[in-house]
Amino acid sequence: MDFLRSIMLVKSVENLKSQAEASGLRRALTGTDVVLIGTGEIIGAGIFVITGTAAANHAGPAIILSFIISGIICAFAGLCYAEMSAAVPVSGSAYTFTYATVGELVAWMIGWDLMLEYLVGAAAVAVGWSGYLVKFLKECGVKSDKHWVEAPWDFTDEEGFKSTGSYINLPAVAIALGVTVVLCLGIRQSAVVNHIAVGIKVTVILIFLFATFSYINPDNWKPFIPEPHNGKDYGFKGVLRASTMVFFAYIGFDAVSTCAQEVKNPARDMPIGILGSLGVCTVLYILVSMNLTGIAPYETLNSASPLADAVANLGMAWLRILIALGAVAGLSSVILVSLLAQPRIFSAMAQDGLLPPSFGKIHPRFKTPVLPTLVSGIICAVCSGLLPINVLGDLTSAGTLFAFFLVCLSVTVLRFTRPDLERPFRVPLGPFVIPILGAATSMGLIVTTGWPTVLRLLIWMALGLVVYFAYGMRHSVLRTGKKPEGLERSPVEEEKPVLESA
Ligand code: ALA
Repeated sequence: MDFLRSIMLVKSVENLKSQAEASGLRRALTGTDVVLIGTGEIIGAGIFVITGTAAANHAGPAIILSFIISGIICAFAGLCYAEMSAAVPVSGSAYTFTYATVGELVAWMIGWDLMLEYLVGAAAVAVGWSGYLVKFLKECGVKSDKHWVEAPWDFTDEEGFKSTGSYINLPAVAIALGVTVVLCLGIRQSAVVNHIAVGIKVTVILIFLFATFSYINPDNWKPFIPEPHNGKDYGFKGVLRASTMVFFAYIGFDAVSTCAQEVKNPARDMPIGILGSLGVCTVLYILVSMNLTGIAPYETLNSASPLADAVANLGMAWLRILIALGAVAGLSSVILVSLLAQPRIFSAMAQDGLLPPSFGKIHPRFKTPVLPTLVSGIICAVCSGLLPINVLGDLTSAGTLFAFFLVCLSVTVLRFTRPDLERPFRVPLGPFVIPILGAATSMGLIVTTGWPTVLRLLIWMALGLVVYFAYGMRHSVLRTGKKPEGLERSPVEEEKPVLESA
């Protein structure tokens, strides 16, 4: 009983709130700002790369339905994130607010699981970045050697892992390490560059939509849901499988909750920010997938740069180059934001004693968490150099969906364990309907990724539990009352300028 109580120890919400107030972060953001930040964080390799693969191999033109299904599931989870982040409006992530509400073990599991969202997710985007860089170089007349721009293994649901004959995806490794170096040195200066990159990718998507609209051939949408053929699923099963793949495209709206401490009115602005950015992206994604499957037969879209390749037949060379360039710029910003978030979660966990203190240290000269940034960057680089985007994307989606599952359940649990907590925003329809729908549909999507991905997720989470019981539980500040050695300063305070610029 004592054991159970101890792993469910919670941080005090009230303390966290007062720490947040004292941290000096300005409440300057409006709901619209948050929608824009969220949209910038969300759009990435999902729409630029995975849409093509998912349409070609699983859903056909019905990829549009897959986006709608995924969008609805995200909306359930989004409402739960909105309730949590408005009730506990502190900087940090699902890790922080579950620590303050459900308890240490669930918080640890979410923190551990978020590595899949941020680290593996950044690796997937780095692979997407590489595909568009190769495309851009090709447009400029520079041919890349296949052996150095692709992962050594490919993976399909039907055949498992197969050698591609390549050695390593070198551009993906290079962008992961390049971003890591920038983040170690301090990213204040790159905030402007990041905003420009976000602007470029949204503009490129809009130009793609306008330029290709008149080339849509409705025959390409027939049949809308293809029958199974060529040993592939398609049909309704394929639509569901594609929903999990394109779920990757929505990842990032949950990270909007990290702005909670900097918005003017969390009760109003957090739901607007989370659901607004989700809404904007859903509309853009549906339109892009309509145009993409309308201008090219879906079976031709299985490439590393499907948006650029699809316009190849339309004869607009300028558009191909623009899309490739826009993707290269835009995807860099997603990698940057993910590799910025991960070390901050490591730091927060080290501050709580759940990871070794060295993960919470701030470099005296650069004022950044150099060790966790390097660890994150190197893991990301290795994954992006060796694994294909579908394996990385599916694992990221499964990991993120598992975090959604836990957050949705936490909302219901918390309504009963802390009925007194002030909740400026509540999910509609009471404590059961939306959270349970969110948890059940998230779990449903995890299952459709198939056994290989589910197994990888289970192994990862089991490893997490081993680390928790071997290290975290013994060193937890909340349990032992002892502060981690050498961590007198809060990394959140140290990182304040970074937070403001990110
Ligand atoms: N949503 C992000 C992307 O599509 C992770 O790249």
